[in-house]
Amino acid sequence: MAPTLSNEILLKAAKEFSTPLYVYDEERIHFQYAKLIQAFQKSDVSIFYACKALSNINVLRIFRDLGAGIDCVSLNEVQFALKAGVDPSKIIFTPNSVSFDDYTEAVSIGVNINIDNLEILQQFGTVYGNTYPVVVRINPHILAGGNIKISTGHIDSKFGISIDQVGQILDIKKQTGLAIKGLHLHTGSEIKEVDVFLNGLNLLLELSNQFEELTVIDLGGGFKIPYKPDEKGVDIEQLGEKLFERLDQFQHSNNRKFQIWFEPGKFLVSEAGYFLTKANIIKENPTRHFIGVDSGFNHLIRPMFYDAYHIIDNISNARGPLKTYNVVGNICETDTFAWDRELPEVHAGDILMFKNAGAYGFEMSSRFNSRTRPAEVIVAKGEMKLIRRRETLDDLLQGQIL
Ligand code: LLP
Repeated sequence: MAPTLSNEILLKAAKEFSTPLYVYDEERIHFQYAKLIQAFQKSDVSIFYACKALSNINVLRIFRDLGAGIDCVSLNEVQFALKAGVDPSKIIFTPNSVSFDDYTEAVSIGVNINIDNLEILQQFGTVYGNTYPVVVRINPHILAGGNIKISTGHIDSKFGISIDQVGQILDIKKQTGLAIKGLHLHTGSEIKEVDVFLNGLNLLLELSNQFEELTVIDLGGGFKIPYKPDEKGVDIEQLGEKLFERLDQFQHSNNRKFQIWFEPGKFLVSEAGYFLTKANIIKENPTRHFIGVDSGFNHLIRPMFYDAYHIIDNISNARGPLKTYNVVGNICETDTFAWDRELPEVHAGDILMFKNAGAYGFEMSSRFNSRTRPAEVIVAKGEMKLIRRRETLDDLLQGQIL
């Protein structure tokens, strides 16, 4: 059974640290990581946690202790991983649309580098030749993922070098001597179909015949986890089994050996996170009942930005009679967390808990409307620990030239 935090401990956290509040369950992070390791144990698989999902250094330390690597999209994320004590050899730098300066800094730190466009690849090859082997991101022209905003591998996506331009990658390699140790793809987030990952694997295996020094195949992240009550996530055990079969067969018949890398974010931390808010007002309009909470899309943007669904529960009155509400925030524009949602009757002061808030929750929060960002707490072995204090007015003013 997957571990979850009880309403009692969440209410205790809300009381002790106030709301709005992000609470993370360390045990659940361990559980999710162990599930991946177990599913892929037959193959040579390494997991790099995509820390754009949740980058608090205390969380990165959990992954360091588990032996995971970290996938970073910015140099600041790389610095976070280093601060958490992660060795540069276990960090991948996977940026897009950054300047060559970022790559030279990444080289000086010694992290794995993923290049996703031909111009930088040419520059990199010219400067470093075969001295710094890189991973190259391929755009496989595969449309997958929960919705178009989080799909990244289709033909019109800005990410990666088109599969049709592999000839140009080979030309750069030949001309500059650039060493390509890995090929990468990431088709999107919330991918449920095992076949999407297998198609990606097949495609990179086929390409591997043209890259004789290739040792790494990076299949990205994007494992779907359930958000709605009766939704199912990706069948990770089946993926592990099928991946092993295909890889083993290819490696034998081609006399090659590959390490497989994955870089999941949501799978590892989404279900470990809870977002707690307090009902400030109940408004009964002629057509709708609203619950106005002490937060808004500045703290959890996923419903407004991706039409994402988060289970919400009234943990102060979990067994109360059900009523239908719109759950709204306090931002001065349309700011709806949930439409027509049945919840145990809510009174002002009740604590509403949002599930699946570990990934892209706090991480995408902002100070819009000059509101401070929430605190973050982690629960480990029944103990609550504050890992980010609540911001104050001074934090908002810091940096302004007064
Ligand atoms: N690798 C790369 C290159 C990525 O761009 C991403 C996510 C991941 C790995 C991790 O994907 P995950 O396993 O978390 O699905 N903010 C959106 C999700 C955007 C994902 C961006 N890239 C959301 O809240 O749904």
